[in-house]
Amino acid sequence: QKNLIVAFGGMSPEHEVSVLTALQAVAALEESHYTLIPLYITKSGNWLTGKSLLKLESFKDLKKVASESIPCTFSHNDLGQPVLLELRQGWFSKEVAHPIHALLTAFHGSDGENGSFQGICELYHIPYTGSGVLASALGMDKLRAKEFCKNHDLPVVDGIGFHESEWVDSRDSLIAKAESIRYPLIVKPVHLGSSIGVEMVEHREDLIRSVETAFRYDARLLIEKAVKPLTEVNCSVLGSSDKNRASVCERPIGKEELLSFTDKYMRDEAGSKGMASADRVIPADIDDDLTRAIQETSRTIFSLLGCSGLARLDFLVNSNTGDYYFNEINTIPGSFSFYLWKESGIEYPQLLEELIKLALD
Ligand code: DAL
Ligand code: MG
Repeated sequence: QKNLIVAFGGMSPEHEVSVLTALQAVAALEESHYTLIPLYITKSGNWLTGKSLLKLESFKDLKKVASESIPCTFSHNDLGQPVLLELRQGWFSKEVAHPIHALLTAFHGSDGENGSFQGICELYHIPYTGSGVLASALGMDKLRAKEFCKNHDLPVVDGIGFHESEWVDSRDSLIAKAESIRYPLIVKPVHLGSSIGVEMVEHREDLIRSVETAFRYDARLLIEKAVKPLTEVNCSVLGSSDKNRASVCERPIGKEELLSFTDKYMRDEAGSKGMASADRVIPADIDDDLTRAIQETSRTIFSLLGCSGLARLDFLVNSNTGDYYFNEINTIPGSFSFYLWKESGIEYPQLLEELIKLALD
């Protein structure tokens, strides 16, 4: 019997999406030989475990699920193995320590996806799925990921990045730099996902207003040339940095709205389709050369950033010229991009097995 810790939730604005990703994976692993043990991090940062956390319906009431669960932490047993230790309270308490075979990281955004949680796993020598500390941190920093790709002659849109203090000190020169890229421009926080704080602007007044709004979300911002007319194309990569393959591409349709957990939960297809059950065309209806170019570029970026496990890379394509640009990488993509791998011939349970195997390599 091997214990697989399923770690999810967290203090990020993408908490609810993480719950869905995790519980879809739990469903897919039902027939596996692993014993699944949840590690749920609440919105306020508490670590909890307990069987009810493996059931989607428990999450209808976040307070109730928290009160019925058991606080826990990582530790080591007498054999020096990493364990998930239940912190039961009271004089009658009996210590329960689950030895950890591997851990599935199913967080989205901030501490769970940016290398912080990965660093804790490193400290405890816990094999965990997905990218390591460095690739996770680089992936979460949109500006540095782009600079990195640009330095490797990979296509990214023109843009500038700056800190709030630079804006305060030299606003006019930043505006001049941004305007030299020419409107329309996109203003976005460096660290956030899910389109939070992202705006398209057409003139100076709007630019200043959006920059000042976006500083509410992040101290570092990006201003980029807007690709118009725009087609978005995403591709997933699976493997290690030296041996990997790309999935088919998808073309997400429209703006992906971030629905509340209840909204998603109430829509009964949410459990099977996941992430906002966003409408998407799979495989993307783009020409074969472009598909191949995006797949190759995705693999190159995955390798250069030192990713492992699985990631989804998002591209912007100018629908008139066919020029494509790397936009961002998600080192823990929503629903582990299972829908892309399914179309590429790998069923979800098999995808997760492969991800776990990569974590143990
Ligand atoms: N950050 C979300 C979950 C995604 O892009 O997949
Ligand atoms: Mg994204």
